[in-house]
Amino acid sequence: MTLRYCHHTLCIAGRSVPSLAEKQDTPFYAYSLPSVQERARAFRRAFPNALIAFALKANRYPPILRALAAEGLGVDVVSLGEWHLARAAGFPPERVVVNGNAKSDALLQEAIAAGAQSINLDAAEEVPRVVAAARAMGKTAAVAIRINPGLDVHTHPHLQVAAQGSHFGVPPEQVLAVAQAIAEAPELRLAGIHLHPGSQLLAAADWEAVVAAAREWVGRLRSAGFPVQQVNFGGGLGITYTNAPDPQPAALAEQIHRGLAGLAPLRLAFEPGRWLVARAGVLVVRVVQVKHAWGQRFVAVDGGMNALLRPALYGARHRIWPVRRREPARPATVVGPNCESTDVLARDVPLPADLAAGDLLAVLDTGAYGASMANAYNARPLPAEMLVGESLPPADV
Ligand SMILES: Cc1ncc(COP(=O)(O)O)c(C=O)c1O
Repeated sequence: MTLRYCHHTLCIAGRSVPSLAEKQDTPFYAYSLPSVQERARAFRRAFPNALIAFALKANRYPPILRALAAEGLGVDVVSLGEWHLARAAGFPPERVVVNGNAKSDALLQEAIAAGAQSINLDAAEEVPRVVAAARAMGKTAAVAIRINPGLDVHTHPHLQVAAQGSHFGVPPEQVLAVAQAIAEAPELRLAGIHLHPGSQLLAAADWEAVVAAAREWVGRLRSAGFPVQQVNFGGGLGITYTNAPDPQPAALAEQIHRGLAGLAPLRLAFEPGRWLVARAGVLVVRVVQVKHAWGQRFVAVDGGMNALLRPALYGARHRIWPVRRREPARPATVVGPNCESTDVLARDVPLPADLAAGDLLAVLDTGAYGASMANAYNARPLPAEMLVGESLPPADV
């Protein structure tokens, strides 16, 4: 962790949060560069020959993208805007994978023209669209079939995208027909299969099911004569959002190698988002007012669901720490400034009893799906972002 108290003041990657707040209005996101780099390196060490394509939807801040490109990662994009951000950050097209259930023609054209690593087909109905775009340019497109294996993994229902009835991916009964359509189209080349299992997976048992599904589909497609050379496991590796250790890519690697043992060589690809960047970020907010009502202490801050949507969207629980730590602590409900009853950042948060307007709070583990989901509700400006840090000062915790 690159977030810790230095002499009772919260520091991120060696910089005190109040010093950052002197130069930047709240709410703002601060990201630790060393944290991002360490995580990128850990993922690459676990899968040295795989394509690790950062899911740009998790964080689109250009300095973070440049740092990840410099670490040799690839990138997963789902829109033309994400495509342009990725290319501007230095990701070469052969390390860009294109996902999405409603890819625009403009995105398909850019991806095909530049030679993206793979366009992951989300539907049988997408095949003729990619064929037409490739034919118009006289190009061949590398495509993968995003299979929806109908898995029931343990995560929030809103994060389940590979379950029966989901609108993502090709359902099992259509997969062979899609492979056949790809084989018959001279404009397409089958790069492999894609199996994004959903987000925020913590249980090893869930990954067992994902790996077993991948093994089954490689076998079925190969025995039907379709040469699958790559399995893209998507993203999904979760973090605990607490002090408990996160699942590690090295353990996932062991599980995958065991689960795929005996299959003819396969290239692996991954699209981690959350695991790479969530721990690197804090959202810094300022207390506007403290209200005592209904037997509760409501701490109203200047950034809520507009700056960090996850608590309102998924009931996500983020730790909130005071930037200046002091005793005693008392429970508080931390609420945002927006006119919605769901604009509650967290309940039962232990915060200093004398917390007052002007104090700073840090919302932890917000480097993924934080700023990237921020919005302008109630005509508030988007939160600023900054990347900090090279080295750590000694900790006093
Ligand atoms: C296709 C795809 N790949 C990768 C990801 C990243 O998932 P995560 O941030 O959980 O690693 C997502 C997230 O929704 C996704 O839809």
